[in-house]
Amino acid sequence: MALLFLDTARIQEVKEAASWGVLDGVTTNPTLMMQAGTADLKENTLKIIDLVGGPVSAEVVSVDAAGMIREAEEILAWSEHVFVKIPCTVEGLKAMRKISQWPNGRINATLIFSANQAYLAAKAGATYASIFVGRMDDAGLDGMEVVRQTREVFDNYGFDCYVLAASIRHPAHVTESLLAGADIITLPFGVLQKMIRSPFTDAGLERFLADWEEVTAKAGL
Ligand code: E4P
Repeated sequence: MALLFLDTARIQEVKEAASWGVLDGVTTNPTLMMQAGTADLKENTLKIIDLVGGPVSAEVVSVDAAGMIREAEEILAWSEHVFVKIPCTVEGLKAMRKISQWPNGRINATLIFSANQAYLAAKAGATYASIFVGRMDDAGLDGMEVVRQTREVFDNYGFDCYVLAASIRHPAHVTESLLAGADIITLPFGVLQKMIRSPFTDAGLERFLADWEEVTAKAGL
């Protein structure tokens, strides 16, 4: 089963998506917090957890391993559902290695742009490897190829790390991520809305309702 996460810090979007019954988790980052207009990471993360009851990622802002570890300790203590997002840098790897040894060391390795980075994150003990597909596509690269390669690498060696397709720009990215074997896809609310919409579904429904009205009217119902 591929898990579906919402990539947002906006409470209203989480509430709406959760009401659809298909939401498994949420990922946030400092930019998404800025867009949601809040600097209270703890309060916002706990509100989201209340709504989704599943994994919610909150990101550190330190760039050195010691700072990341300090922040991770605090963030991970908020809830059993919280995952700490650590950037995939040298300092990030050092932090991941340490945090992954804790009983509550749930790590989402973020800002991954190659299968090599994903491999290093998995070796350092990350639970999720977040591959930024859209940002690679924006730069003229093939983001989905990195998802495919990472899937193969993890499968070849039995890495216990989820392939997370992130930076999703449109519904085709979701289908391609599913076909590439991503374990988790995190997407903006706008993409989720586009995934369910089809003019053919609307037209088909309209036709069914009209025909039903006609047949029931003829039957005098
Ligand atoms: C992942 O967890 C990130 O928050 C996100 O997918 C980044 O996407 P962007 O490229 O749209 O900022």
